[in-house]
Amino acid sequence: MRVLGIETSCDETAVAIVEAPAGAAPGGLILANVVYSQQTEHRRFGGVVPEIAARAHLERIDGLIEDALTEARLGLDDLDAVAATGGPGLIGGVMVGVMAAKGLAFARNKPFLAINHLEGHALSVRLTEEVDFPYLLLLVSGGHCQLLTVRGPGDFTRLGTTIDDAVGECFDKTAKLLGLGFPGGPAVERLAKDGDAQRFTLPRPMWRKPGCDFSFSGLKTAAARLAEGLTADADKRDLAAAVQAAIARQLAERTDRAMVAYAHEHEGRDLRFVVAGGVAANGAVRELLMQTAAQRGFSFAAPALAYCTDNAAMIALAGAERLAAGLTDGLDAAARPRWPLDAAAALANPTHSFGRKGAKA
Ligand code: KG4
Ligand code: ZN
Repeated sequence: MRVLGIETSCDETAVAIVEAPAGAAPGGLILANVVYSQQTEHRRFGGVVPEIAARAHLERIDGLIEDALTEARLGLDDLDAVAATGGPGLIGGVMVGVMAAKGLAFARNKPFLAINHLEGHALSVRLTEEVDFPYLLLLVSGGHCQLLTVRGPGDFTRLGTTIDDAVGECFDKTAKLLGLGFPGGPAVERLAKDGDAQRFTLPRPMWRKPGCDFSFSGLKTAAARLAEGLTADADKRDLAAAVQAAIARQLAERTDRAMVAYAHEHEGRDLRFVVAGGVAANGAVRELLMQTAAQRGFSFAAPALAYCTDNAAMIALAGAERLAAGLTDGLDAAARPRWPLDAAAALANPTHSFGRKGAKA
């Protein structure tokens, strides 16, 4: 089954073609994966500008679809379906991807799939690792921080989410404070490498609080206070290391609680833990989560680094998995700025986090 996937929900215009085995087996062979990152368009604004993003997607999308087909040595008729991120995300960009996919699907009479971007991240591990359902997922990105039970495509239970900022925002804000580039996560990680994480004391949000929710705004504010007047490189390195360690610690502490609940619910079954999303590319975060998983008897898996941050291979794979499950969409499916994975949990416990990338769920 070959599916072409399109991702345009933020500042990456991406197209990929994935060949997935029929049935419920994990995995997908990536036949093509092209990404155009709009970082240069947005850098001077210090963040993603929605209008600029939408226009840049529109300018690039046709060429990238052609590039992906060339890379895979396929024609449009060799595809079994066309998938696009249908939300959540910056609506102008999402519309560009959805319309491009619908156009191809209509012209060639192929099924169309509108993919929830978060479902793309949630299944992305299966692009490069053999991980069966169900698993406990920590989804950490620029717009989200959630713990979810993943039972299969379209089948999620949210165990916790951030009550304020997304974890990626905390990295990006810290980078801004320290005068580093955008996006901030990788820059903070590079700077933190030689820093002393013990030098600055940061708050421990949510520590010992019941449940599995997260909070990052207090950390962000504390980092901002400490960053005031810091000019020496050594000081900046130490603050970057302290913030990164505090983020990793909170992620591990809340994940540990979720593991206890998940293990209780899945007694006698294999316990699998997966971390995905842009922040899963962070070495310190991965390392601490790996330790936490080992202590709780969970296996650990994360997507290959290239598939942690936004990409279209995860959208194509989610498309293939949904196609196999018969979950296709009509050409009247709308682009959605907000689209929670677990609608019941989001309704019962709405959070106020819109994220720096706009309202994401
Ligand atoms: O998943 P993603 O590419 O986009 C969203 O769906 O939001 O995540 C982007 C976020 C940004 O906040 C970026 O700074 C962060 O992931 N990020 C990192 C690293 N690489 C990307 N954060 C910490 N360490 C990294 N190495
Ligand atoms: Zn993402």
